[in-house]
Amino acid sequence: MPSPTSSSPLNVLVFGASLRADSINQKLAALAARVARESGAQVDLALMREFDAPFYDGDLEAAQGIPGGPTAFRDRLLACDAFVVSSPEYNASMPGTIKNLIDWTSRFRPQPFDGKHGLLMSASPSLAGGKGGLWSLRIPLEHLGSRVFPDMFSLAMAHKAFVDDGIADPALRARFEKNVQAFLSLAEAAKHYPCMKRAWVEFLGEPPGVGEDRVDPVPS
Ligand code: FNR
Repeated sequence: MPSPTSSSPLNVLVFGASLRADSINQKLAALAARVARESGAQVDLALMREFDAPFYDGDLEAAQGIPGGPTAFRDRLLACDAFVVSSPEYNASMPGTIKNLIDWTSRFRPQPFDGKHGLLMSASPSLAGGKGGLWSLRIPLEHLGSRVFPDMFSLAMAHKAFVDDGIADPALRARFEKNVQAFLSLAEAAKHYPCMKRAWVEFLGEPPGVGEDRVDPVPS
């Protein structure tokens, strides 16, 4: 069997889900990008600001279509095999900005999240590291067909956790790198040796029917 890494590398979109210039989540995302590059992946490191959008509004969508930020996000999502997002926790949940981006992006067909492998991480000054927000972020992503990696990484006391070249604590740094590498291994195996039969249907509560189903065609 040919080595997967000898053919096409894994394309990974990485971004921090914070608009703040000095975001600790963007910092963690940049570290994940570095680990991914060192592991042989091709990385697209993005900023949340590049995907800026007004609040989702059905009237705006009907009048003007989907705005430029979510369109750019869709394009970059479609160009990747996998994505890594480091998201802040706001009030024990995900920030409204990332939920808004997911909602706009979910309006495209085919469904851009469908089948993409995702790794979730967070950084927070708190002792829990923002993990609570990741459980909420997992819900819409899985609903939209993303394969969200079971292991998530949360960096606690993140305002004190960094040194210039990464996470200061060596044991924590090793755990972080292992988490990213484990995710990449799974995404790479799925890219090169797909074996899962799947079909995404967005379940909106109605019984199955042509008018109600939002279905993406199953790739042959
Ligand atoms: C927070 N923060 C926060 N942290 C946390 O661990 N759990 C939480 O529930 C919240 N809630 C919360 C709500 C709001 C509105 C703000 C603005 C902040 C603190 C948050 O983790 C901290 O500001 C991080 O620095 C935000 O991430 P970035 O922007 O640095 O990436």
